[in-house]
Amino acid sequence: MCGIVGYTGPKEARAILIDGLKKLEYRGYDSAGVALQHDGLLEIHKAAGSVADLEKTLVDNSNAVNVGIGHTRWATHGRPTDENAHPHCSCCKEIALVHNGIIENHQTLRKWLAEEADHKFSSETDTEVLVHLIEEYYEGDLLESVRKAVARIEGSFALVVVSSREPGRLVCARQDSPLIIGLGDGENLVASDIPALLAHTRKTKVLEDGDFASITSEGVEISDAEGKLLDKEIFEITWDIEAAEKGGYDHFMLKEIMEQPAAVKETLRQRIDTASGKVNLSELNFTTEELTSLEKIHIVACGTAYHAGILGKAVIEKIAKVSVEVDVASEFRYREPLLTENQLLIVISQSGETADTLAALRLARQKGLKVLAITNVVGSSVSREADEVFYTWAGPEIAVASTKAYLTQLIALYLFALYLAETRGRIDSAVYDELVSGLKALPGHIKTVLSEENLAKLHTYCDHLSRWDSAFFVGRNLDYPVAMEGALKLKEISYIHAEAYAAGELKHGPLALIVEGIPVIALITQKAVSDKTLSNIQEVNARGGAVFAITREGFDEIASQVESVFYLPPANDILAPVLSVVPTQLIAYYAALARGSSVDKPRNLAKSVTVE
Ligand code: AGP
Repeated sequence: MCGIVGYTGPKEARAILIDGLKKLEYRGYDSAGVALQHDGLLEIHKAAGSVADLEKTLVDNSNAVNVGIGHTRWATHGRPTDENAHPHCSCCKEIALVHNGIIENHQTLRKWLAEEADHKFSSETDTEVLVHLIEEYYEGDLLESVRKAVARIEGSFALVVVSSREPGRLVCARQDSPLIIGLGDGENLVASDIPALLAHTRKTKVLEDGDFASITSEGVEISDAEGKLLDKEIFEITWDIEAAEKGGYDHFMLKEIMEQPAAVKETLRQRIDTASGKVNLSELNFTTEELTSLEKIHIVACGTAYHAGILGKAVIEKIAKVSVEVDVASEFRYREPLLTENQLLIVISQSGETADTLAALRLARQKGLKVLAITNVVGSSVSREADEVFYTWAGPEIAVASTKAYLTQLIALYLFALYLAETRGRIDSAVYDELVSGLKALPGHIKTVLSEENLAKLHTYCDHLSRWDSAFFVGRNLDYPVAMEGALKLKEISYIHAEAYAAGELKHGPLALIVEGIPVIALITQKAVSDKTLSNIQEVNARGGAVFAITREGFDEIASQVESVFYLPPANDILAPVLSVVPTQLIAYYAALARGSSVDKPRNLAKSVTVE
């Protein structure tokens, strides 16, 4: 996700663009820039860093600037550097563009533009291809050149373009990434999201996929790919700015939970070949020899990422039949792990800056291991120091409690396990195909879990749970790492002391803590062990524990054994954890709400722990 702002009107544009970008920093904050149109030229200011850093470069206000575009970046292709920051300019510096999205065929277009049309590139981004393509087609009408350029694009984009030859005009196009036009009085704006508009107008028109727009201070024309004018409804925005930054949700955490279908879809995008149905991780430079000779994988991470790693162990061992060891990063380097060169280290880190995880990465590299980083932040320390990087593309995760980043880490591990298994010839094709189609169905199933009815059910359950200061999460096999993640979520934002136990362990001690009414959340999604877990639940019931079961459609014998039951949509055992963790995230959220704790910024915690 990135943040885009555009303005055309009688006012000073610099301040409007900077203020708008600041309101969109939750969409991306690793670099920022503006293109200011005045006196027949385009003045570009852009750099790695925050919008506040950019603002400091806009000291010379001697020229009156009433038109401009701005961008705050969440890097996808190309590290956060000055050159890779937007806006990007054409060779002749007469056209500038900002973009949110991913141009999937950028390499083919870049090759054609450079070799056939002699365009010179100054960045490593996919976006820069767009502005050179528009320049290639420019014959005096910016909108028409954008239409022709967009016709050759595969991927997602929200783009805004200005030209020094067309004073006062902004040209936009939208496909899969949001773009909203703000209608003012003698002025008009465009932005990725509502917060950037609210200081100026509440009247908006929303561009839809395939729409183009030409915006001046006097008017807005929206059209389709063929140039046919479209009549769009005006939407009056009723949100305040704070609500708008959270997409209308009360907290970033809930917004990010609800973004999980889209985040998982983005993680899967381009990584399952549509024609062959095969997992395509060509972005990772592993040779067949490296993967077939691999004897062991170490997975190292912290917190929620560590829980993803535990599940990753089970998934890789089940699918690819390669031995995996998982360590908490803060323990790994002190246990003098037995590391040899024919092993692989996988580090998992949303922020890519966790000190303990970085230390584990450096130790493994010293020992000659190849390192794969699974991270959400392009240009982060782990992404720069690892040999290979698998980006989760979850978009910025603002809430301290990790949700969508965790889910996309799981997807990364499933994809890697399938890729490894197929390379090693260790998987039955029917099993492979079933897992690939199961992965592709997950965004829809996650959306089903997030239905209004299910949210209400979980909210009601938390009225009971939130009155307790301790709770248990139990599960067996793949349900156990989900129980661990659910317990961490509940602990870190509601401050309820939640413990996760392998369900079979309860009778070895923890059962002593089961008293009348104590909340016990039981994950039961694994067919092979569901009967065993059910008998553990009966042990809890016999001692008065109040069991809330998270299970799958078809596990009908559960309902009569528990206080309440939450059914997940159908998914096979090995993919079920991607679904079963979602209700545990919502339980933590609603319990925190009920107990009045600070959901997005829980006490004592930081989003990225950069100290050991
Ligand atoms: C997760 O909800 C916590 N915020 C925390 O455990 C987090 O997962 C851990 O600090 C690791 O962070 P990282 O993924 O950025 O390395």
